[in-house]
Amino acid sequence: MKENDRTTEAFGTEWTAVGVTGEDIPQIAELERVCFSDPWSEAILRESLDNPLYRFVAVKEGARVLGYAGMFLTIPEAQIANVAVDPQMRRRGIARSLVRGLVREAAEAGATVAFLEVREHNAGAISLYEQEGFVRVGMRKNYYDNPVENGYVYVREIG
Ligand SMILES: CC(C)(COP(=O)(O)OP(=O)(O)OC[C@H]1O[C@@H](n2cnc3c(N)ncnc32)[C@H](O)[C@@H]1OP(=O)(O)O)[C@@H](O)C(=O)NCCC(=O)NCCS
Repeated sequence: MKENDRTTEAFGTEWTAVGVTGEDIPQIAELERVCFSDPWSEAILRESLDNPLYRFVAVKEGARVLGYAGMFLTIPEAQIANVAVDPQMRRRGIARSLVRGLVREAAEAGATVAFLEVREHNAGAISLYEQEGFVRVGMRKNYYDNPVENGYVYVREIG
């Protein structure tokens, strides 16, 4: 089997998206730095953790954070803001579990629709979101910086 052919089934692992505490924030900040050209700072992440409108989920192995995701929850809408997985741990179904965890939490909170934006050339993330039922509904021109790139808008009904 090629390295990039691994699937969740091949690993025999089922990931569970769990809640995040203040102790996880330094690792999440490190994930942000490794995964994004415009990372959220530790201060912003801590503010978000204290913000009742922001929800985090993480996949952890013991105390180690393998991936995390977050969303703004302004019922009836959920706006997925971040999904990031440790580069050493990709293609094992972690992001899929994170997205499902967010959608489940949003539904439980009463959201009926979830939105997200994704870079036009982020083929891996686009494939993940489309598999999870998100449908492309628009494009925001030059939405991103570092580098400047269009953003696709995706939406999914939930609940
Ligand atoms: C995009 C990202 C979150 C995916 O995380 P992941 O844990 O590797 O994703 P999963 O293993 O759950 O992938 C689920 C499916 O999505 C698709 N997918 C994920 N990454 C892919 C890639 N690089 N290329 C092609 N398809 C990909 C695949 O269909 C995959 O299923 P498969 O492995 O059985 O073929 C991760 O690559 C990452 O952190 N990237 C940097 C940050 C980022 O771009 N975040 C998203 C925008 S906010």
